[in-house]
Amino acid sequence: MRGEPCRLSNFVGRVSKSDTHGMKPMQRILLDTDTGVDDALAILLALNSPELRVEAITSVSGNVHVNLCTRNLLMTLEAMGLSEYPICAKGESQPLVKPLVTAAHVHGSDGLGDVTQLLRDDGSRLYPDPKPRVAAIPAVDLIIDLAGQYPDELVLVPVGPLTNIAKAIIKHPARMRRIREIVLMGGAFETYGNVTTTAEFNIFADPHAAQLVLDFGVPVTVVPLDVTHQVILTGKHLDAEIGERGDRLSQFLRDVTRATMEYHQSNERFYGTYIHDALPIGLLTHPEFFETVEAFVQVETSSDLTQGMTIADLRSERPRPKPNAQVCVGVNAETFLQHFFDRILQLN
Ligand code: BDR
Ligand code: CA
Repeated sequence: MRGEPCRLSNFVGRVSKSDTHGMKPMQRILLDTDTGVDDALAILLALNSPELRVEAITSVSGNVHVNLCTRNLLMTLEAMGLSEYPICAKGESQPLVKPLVTAAHVHGSDGLGDVTQLLRDDGSRLYPDPKPRVAAIPAVDLIIDLAGQYPDELVLVPVGPLTNIAKAIIKHPARMRRIREIVLMGGAFETYGNVTTTAEFNIFADPHAAQLVLDFGVPVTVVPLDVTHQVILTGKHLDAEIGERGDRLSQFLRDVTRATMEYHQSNERFYGTYIHDALPIGLLTHPEFFETVEAFVQVETSSDLTQGMTIADLRSERPRPKPNAQVCVGVNAETFLQHFFDRILQLN
């Protein structure tokens, strides 16, 4: 049985039960995104995290079609005004088995809060199409190549459907066994789903890929809605942090989050947005903000009613099967949110 939906947490600094995320030296990551609004925020946080070396960012169909996700990824990088770009590669357009479902109703028809519809006074687009800086290599092959280049070092951070990762495993399991860890955003355990009553979007969109990744045997950490729903970036936060700043990044933050804040105002009665995909980045760099437990996680792939549901018994007192994942069950929401702003606005 599911518990009540999560409310803003009173969680204050509980330490991680696992030492998987003890303080580490610089970590090489590959960020795999279906670049929508919160994916864009994760990209900003990752590239402003000195503990991480972002070896590549890949796209996959999810929030919108992969063509738009790839465009949104590059648009986000341009908004950051980077002098050097990480390698970007376009990924899979269709889930392993089921037809593509998208979340354009949350992320806007362009997947990025409809920023592509914003015009300057002269009628030109405020956010024109970015330069096509995409590598010739498809995302799946890039993932395999980097796994071979950095054996036992590369951490995959998928924050969209797991299609690219699953296809890389299918294509080259030996290389993929040398992935150090997969830290993914997805799932809902003791809370309701956000697509159906029981399923979270990333897992629902490609449940077969998710099950394959969990079965593979590389260490997996799951950051589910149970914790991401505790971190809400409100319009008030944004005003307080950005204030009168008129720089490009601050403008981008306002523009990119507006439509999802309005969506949540209409549907969930708060003017704000979740920043789901930024949490796995925070978990990698600041494990002390989070609590994780070991669990045996399975994904429902067949039932019409509960497809995409993630199932695990998180009760510590119960005898449990051999774990296949760490599940994040707690976050110090206020501390993480402040850290997020400090980092993306480069305050420290
Ligand atoms: C996840 O689904 C997507 O819409 C978000 O980008 C996030 O990765 C949350 O369920
Ligand atoms: Ca995402």
